[in-house]
Amino acid sequence: MCGIFAYLNYNVPRSRKHILDTLVKGLQRLEYRGYDSAGVAVDGGNDKNWDNNSKVIQLIKKRGKVKALQDEIYKQDSLDFDIEFETHVGIAHTRWATHGEPNAVNSHPQRSDKNNEFVVIHNGIITNYKDLKKFLESKGYEFESETDTETIPKLLKYMYDNRESDEISLSTLVERVTQQLEGAFALVFKSVHFPGQVVGTRRGGPLLIGVQSKHKLSTDHIPVLYRCGKEKKAVSTLPRVDGDTCLYPIGEETGVEYYFASDASAIIEHTNRVIFLEDDDVAAVVDGRLSIHRIKRTAGDDPARAIQTLQMELQQIMKGSYSSFMQKEIFEQPESVVNTMRGRVNFDDFTVLLGGLKDHIREIRRCRRLIVIGCGTSYHAGVATRQILEELTELPVMVELSSDFLDRNTPVFRDDVCFFISQSGETADTLMALHYCKERGALTVGVTNTVGSSISRETDCGIHINAGPEVGVASTKAYTSQFVALVMFSLMMCDDRLSMQKRRQEIISALRTLPDLIKEVLALDDQINSLAHELYQQRSLLVMGRGFNYATCMEGALKIKEITYMHSEGILAGELKHGPLALVDKLMPVIMIIMKDPTHTKCQNALQQVVARKGRPILICEKNDDESKLLAYRTIELPHTVDCLQGVLTVIPLQLLSYHLAVLRGFDVDFPRNLAKSVTVE
Ligand code: G6P
Repeated sequence: MCGIFAYLNYNVPRSRKHILDTLVKGLQRLEYRGYDSAGVAVDGGNDKNWDNNSKVIQLIKKRGKVKALQDEIYKQDSLDFDIEFETHVGIAHTRWATHGEPNAVNSHPQRSDKNNEFVVIHNGIITNYKDLKKFLESKGYEFESETDTETIPKLLKYMYDNRESDEISLSTLVERVTQQLEGAFALVFKSVHFPGQVVGTRRGGPLLIGVQSKHKLSTDHIPVLYRCGKEKKAVSTLPRVDGDTCLYPIGEETGVEYYFASDASAIIEHTNRVIFLEDDDVAAVVDGRLSIHRIKRTAGDDPARAIQTLQMELQQIMKGSYSSFMQKEIFEQPESVVNTMRGRVNFDDFTVLLGGLKDHIREIRRCRRLIVIGCGTSYHAGVATRQILEELTELPVMVELSSDFLDRNTPVFRDDVCFFISQSGETADTLMALHYCKERGALTVGVTNTVGSSISRETDCGIHINAGPEVGVASTKAYTSQFVALVMFSLMMCDDRLSMQKRRQEIISALRTLPDLIKEVLALDDQINSLAHELYQQRSLLVMGRGFNYATCMEGALKIKEITYMHSEGILAGELKHGPLALVDKLMPVIMIIMKDPTHTKCQNALQQVVARKGRPILICEKNDDESKLLAYRTIELPHTVDCLQGVLTVIPLQLLSYHLAVLRGFDVDFPRNLAKSVTVE
């Protein structure tokens, strides 16, 4: 989805070229999120005095890739790229079209007027934009785009034009604007009236600020200022200067750079010191000083925002020698599952301790029901582990798609425990489902891959899956880590149950060997590539299985759809006779997953039925399953593991197959059409 990046250098001289390159690089780091146009706003003018240049804002916007924007930028004859700015604010955006087609006018930054007095970049959706637009049009403001976003800078200008005093600050104006907005947003503003200043705010969409100074930062907390009447009061006793926090020793040379972004991956190459904003925080940098304001204080509000250290490494978001992020992430799985288990599973005494849940585990054990909620691949991780959750917790387990769960107004009670599975931790539907469950008093548990994400912050407790940044839009390593995390949770739930010790030991031993088995499966890559050569011109692919492997069928089919654009369906083998059998003939490729578990015989029945209709089944089966292999047209043979972890192994051939199919069909594996990595709108 859309991406936000802004860069402010204060008393750090930077050439315009450096600034623009920084903005473009920031956008490139956000490309994986999915987008269809991009734009930047920087100070225009070529005066030697930067002060004069900041009175003009230059907008450059372009449909298509960030590369196209970069080319457009360097075509601008009116800009002197060598000119230096002591202090400067640049804002940049990748847009994923929702309101209005992808074109230069609709892309961001959006502006208040033809003179670009106020410009804004926006992630999210403003749901009451039609009313705002009507109001502004009645006041004579003219609109040029089809976007909901355009109402924001225009409303800001309206507030500015009708200000009661010239003393008014940009952050106060932004506060007033956001009070009128409904929907979800992360916003960053720049204005010719407030040179060298930037303001960012959020409600429902992520926004973080990176800080880079050659001085050691003088505090590790930013106090939050609450507006009481016209005055701002800090409720924190933390060090502050005139209401604003100076992050570097005063009196010394005061150079500092700030990076605002919707995603840590755009910041990490500049600094690992970041502040995650909370909903309704208004963060402003004025004269190089950062302050965070809120309109009012509500119970439980944290009076300060910590400056955190990001653990991410730059190389984690680089492709290295792989041809795509997706391929890299598939091959990272032997390590990513280890990272999910690291420090949590003790293979010697068969114990599992999830630190993020330990204070709540007694309460969770007392609950009446577990509800596992997610979208896309994250939902499939819930389906994949439902059976083992039911078995080891002996609780009813519902697995829900976030959007459907909300549409149904599903009854939720105080004695329910609700799990929110989300790689990004920002998916709008899942986040709304979380709010819904919180309102009903359920205990909420986040299972996310993104430290500091909305879901990880807003849940009562949770598990970080620690799979490392996932860039490919089609989720792969996050799935297997979510899977392992949920299995670990079910093991932790029954660690005091004598009757379950044998089963627990069996699963924990299997977790120990899992990384090596994943490596064995990955070694089948050439074989899967040759299968892809046979299949890539097909229109459709069925994937069939049951029990512990039903989720693999749905997840495999999703991978194929997402990046190869072929039709694919995950079919529960038990439903074969109730419809899907009608699709089977000698032309339809059917991938069948048959593992040696209690569903083996039933799966073989399904296989017989496919063969009887002249279907040519491609089997994903265990190495020693000679009986099934006899009926197969092609086989992919996997090592054996315990039933509840088979799904980690069986999904990998399908991840690899979809990858090879997409390459052979000539598609961009990491940027599938119409899809976004993080879906931050409903
Ligand atoms: C998008 C992504 C999927 C992902 C889903 C849920 O559709 O393309 O790969 O599974 O969102 O995302 P989440 O971040 O909540 O796991």
